[in-house]
This record gives sequence, C-alpha cells and structure tokens, in this order.
Amino acid sequence: MACIVFGFKALCFSFLFVAVASRPTAWKKVFNVQRYGATSDGKTDNVNAFKTVWKSACSRINGNSKIYVPKGTFYLGGIEFLGPCKNKIEFVIDGTLLAPANPKDIKQDTWINFRYIDNLSIYGKGTLDGQGKQSWPFNDCHKNTSCPQLAKTMGFAFVNDSSVKGITSLNSKMAHFNFFQVHHFNITEVNITAPGDSPNTDGIKIGYSSNMQISNTQIGTGDDCIAILPGTTNLDISNVTCGPGHGISVGSLGKNKAEKDVNGLTVSDTIFNGTSNGIRIKTWESSASNILVSKFVYENIQMINVGIPINIDQKYCPYPPCEKKGDSHVQIQDVELQNIYGTSTTKTAVSLQCSKSVPCKNIHLIDIDLKYNGTNEQGPAIAMCQNVDGYARGKKFPPNCLD
Ligand SMILES: *[C@@H]1O[C@H](CO)[C@@H](O)[C@H](O)[C@H]1NC(C)=O
Ligand SMILES: *[C@@H]1O[C@H](CO)[C@@H](O)[C@H](O)[C@H]1NC(C)=O
Ligand SMILES: *[C@@H]1O[C@H](CO)[C@@H](O)[C@H](O)[C@H]1NC(C)=O
Ligand SMILES: *[C@@H]1O[C@H](CO)[C@@H](O)[C@H](O)[C@H]1NC(C)=O
Ligand SMILES: *[C@@H]1O[C@H](CO)[C@@H](O)[C@H](O)[C@H]1NC(C)=O
Ligand SMILES: *[C@@H]1O[C@H](CO)[C@@H](O)[C@H](O)[C@H]1NC(C)=O
Ligand SMILES: *[C@@H]1O[C@H](CO)[C@@H](O)[C@H](O)[C@H]1NC(C)=O
Ligand SMILES: *[C@@H]1O[C@H](CO)[C@@H](O)[C@H](O)[C@H]1NC(C)=O
Repeated sequence: MACIVFGFKALCFSFLFVAVASRPTAWKKVFNVQRYGATSDGKTDNVNAFKTVWKSACSRINGNSKIYVPKGTFYLGGIEFLGPCKNKIEFVIDGTLLAPANPKDIKQDTWINFRYIDNLSIYGKGTLDGQGKQSWPFNDCHKNTSCPQLAKTMGFAFVNDSSVKGITSLNSKMAHFNFFQVHHFNITEVNITAPGDSPNTDGIKIGYSSNMQISNTQIGTGDDCIAILPGTTNLDISNVTCGPGHGISVGSLGKNKAEKDVNGLTVSDTIFNGTSNGIRIKTWESSASNILVSKFVYENIQMINVGIPINIDQKYCPYPPCEKKGDSHVQIQDVELQNIYGTSTTKTAVSLQCSKSVPCKNIHLIDIDLKYNGTNEQGPAIAMCQNVDGYARGKKFPPNCLD
C-alpha cells in the first residue's frame, strides 16, 4: 500500500514539475493597440496608448508578447520603445503609422526609436508614413546653421538578435531606417520609398553595427539607398533594388578621429536603376582618421542608366571648398568586384580615385561590362584610375586602367 501511495505521490510531483517548468513559454499574449485606447482616425495622437501597450508587453514575465497594429491609420507623435524587456517581442504592423507633418511636433531625432532590446521582430503589411514633404524645403543645414532638426523615421540603438520584415517606409523627413550599435539583425522584404529629389532621405543607415543582413528589399529615395558608416562589420546585402537614389555608399569616412574600421561587406544580386552612383566608397579629402576599409565583395550587379556605376572617391568634398590638410588617410584594400554589367549615363563608368599617400591595395575587377548609354554622345565609356594597385580579369569594358 505504502509503496503505491509513494508511487502516486512521486507521479503527482513530476506532473507539478512539468507544469511549472513549461509555464514561461506557455502562451503568447496579443496586445492589440486598439484595445488599449489607440484610435485609427488619422488625427488623434496615439503616443499614450502605444506607451501603455509597450510597458505591459515589455515587462510581461510569463510568456512572449505580440503587439498588434491592425489596419487603419494611426497618427503617432515621436515615441521611444525602451528595453530591456523580459521576453521576446513581436511588433506586427498591418496598419499605417502616420507621423506628424510638422517636424516640430516630433521633438526627438527619431520618430519611432527602439533602444536596448533583444529578440524584437517587427513585421507586417503596414506602412510607416513619415509625411516628409512639408519638411523637405527646410533641409538646408549646409547653408543655414539654424535649420530645424528633422527626424529619421525608425531607429534602432543597442538592439541585438532582431529583425524587420515586410513593412513599407514612405516619405521620411530624413533617413528612413537608422542603425547604431546593432548586432545580428535582418532586414527583409522591406519597401522604402521617397521621391528622387527629396533631400537626405537615405534608405538605411548603419554604423557601429555587425552581422546584419539586408535582402529582398526595394529602395528608392533622394539620397543613399544604403549608407554604410564607420564601425560597420559583416554586412550582407543581397537581392536589393536601388533607384532612384545615390547608390549603396560606404562613407563618407575619415572626418572624425574616433571612427572605427569598416570590413566584411558583401553586395550581391542587386540592381541599380537610374541612380547617380552604384557601388560607391567615399572618404573625405583631408581626413582626421586613418581607419581601414577592407574585405569587400560586390558580385552579380546590374546597372541601368547609372551616373557612375563604380566610384571610389578619396577626395570627397560635397560642399567645396574643403580643408586641404593633406590626403585621405583611410586605407582601402581587398575589394573584389565581379560580374558588374549594364549601362552608365556618364562617360566615366569606372572611377577609382584613391589617396596619394595611402593608395588602394588589392582591388580586383573581374568581368566588368559597362556601356555608355547617356544622351549627349560622350561615349564610349572609360575607366579612370589614380593610386590603385590590383588587377583586372575577364571582360574589361570599359578598357581597364589597372594593369
Ligand atoms: C533572446 O533569445 C535568446 C535565444 O532564444 C534567449 O536566450 C534570451 O533569453 C532571449 N532574451 C529575451 C530578452 O527574451
Ligand atoms: C533657417 O532656418 C530657420 C528655421 O527653419 C528659418 O526660420 C530661417 O528663415 C532659415 N534661414 C534662412 C536664411 O533660410
Ligand atoms: C549585443 O551584441 C554585442 C556584440 O555581439 C555585445 O557586445 C553586446 O553585449 C550585446 N548586448 C546585449 C544586451 O546582449
Ligand atoms: C537572420 O537570417 C539568417 C538566415 O539568413 C538566420 O540564420 C538568422 O537567425 C537570422 N537572424 C535574426 C536575428 O533573425
Ligand atoms: C512600395 O511602396 C510604394 C508606396 O506605398 C508603392 O507605390 C509600391 O508599389 C511598393 N512596392 C512594392 C514592391 O511593394
Ligand atoms: C528578390 O526580392 C524580391 C522582392 O524585392 C522578391 O520578390 C524576389 O522573390 C526575390 N528573389 C529571390 C531570388 O529571392
Ligand atoms: C527601372 O526604372 C524604370 C523607371 O522607374 C522602370 O520603368 C523599370 O521597370 C525599372 N527596371 C527594372 C529592371 O527594375
Ligand atoms: C538606355 O537609355 C534609354 C533612355 O534613357 C533607356 O530607355 C534604355 O532602357 C537604356 N538602355 C539600357 C540597356 O540601359
């Protein structure tokens, strides 16, 4: 008898144990913003409702959280989603988040900012509408030192193991997406759109971040489709369409002493369509820092009517005159460009202008096939090289200037 009772008790305890141990992942709670007071009339500011939702979702300890923005237009002022959170957060956006049209109504440098968060996944069929049109005329900071601050659309800082998928970002006031101190982050199936003449509307800006992937994404803006800034390592870009815009740019680099190296960039299976540049690396004419830019691979890239498809510029000076304290000291090395084809709209389809003091090293051009297709019959296309060491193999159109 005692034996059976003992056995029964033992069985009982083990059931209890299973129940307790599995509780943390037992169920995912859905936080529909409309049930927390959010209104989809496109006018009421939903900041308080979103803050309440975030607080509950982020602090939930016995299961993961899913924040849900249903279809409809939700006006939202500047907001920060701050971690660390106690669980994994899904942030599903199927509706439209509408930014204040007046830049003064945002009051922070990023409209929607995520900080100190791990395991965040943002996805959905929705749109972030930055309503940038009204503020673009005020984007004149190189001429006007008292220019108003304009907000980026969505920012991530100190965020790890996270992703953005599916959503559209429309008409940002400044950059659409900004990444700072972000590690292991995937961006996929995202659509980024602003007019080709909208100032500083970079698609994706990345700095001091590692192990990011950007794939299956369409970007058309008035500035860089992707801007790769100091301290970026192991960035993989594939199947991206860029245009209109200024291309996929590394830099500008070298301006500040504290900058960190940029290495491990791959850009593959990508189309540049009607952009001013395609593959671009730019470093300031006289640089304070002597960082290294290395281990880049660009492959299988189509250029359609691109101004300068391949452009390494170590004399970058957007608003001349620039300080002339000497050459750029940014070292560019180990860059492979393979199977780059299509058309340019300027005669110089390949421009490799490296630093006299720190020449580019180990630059490989393999199967380059670019033709001039401009309107003023300047062709055929040419390549220009200055202070570059490396080689060309396979197809060499325009005629190579390396060896
Ligand atoms: C993030 O996910 C990892 C791996 O699943 C897990 O170890 C970690 O505890 C998670 N962190 C949070 C805040 O959920
Ligand atoms: C500079 O920007 C401020 C703020 O938008 C504006 O009031 C001022 O008129 C601008 N000045 C010039 C010269 O454009
Ligand atoms: C995020 O990742 C970076 C690089 O791997 C690491 O140094 C940092 O501690 C991580 N942060 C968190 C909160 O886990
Ligand atoms: C990013 O995608 C890769 C597969 O391409 C996957 O292995 C990795 O876990 C993903 N990382 C995150 C943070 O979603
Ligand atoms: C991207 O978004 C714009 C603006 O909403 C839209 O016109 C375009 O069709 C979208 N492209 C894709 C591929 O979804
Ligand atoms: C490339 O991305 C587009 C979306 O921009 C997608 O429709 C297509 O399936 C992707 N191609 C591959 C090979 O993944
Ligand atoms: C290039 O852009 C033009 C003009 O926007 C568009 O009509 C064309 O379909 C695009 N080509 C590709 C291959 O995306
Ligand atoms: C050449 O340019 C014309 C006019 O700009 C354009 O219609 C055509 O598609 C371009 N051809 C190629 C192969 O890019």
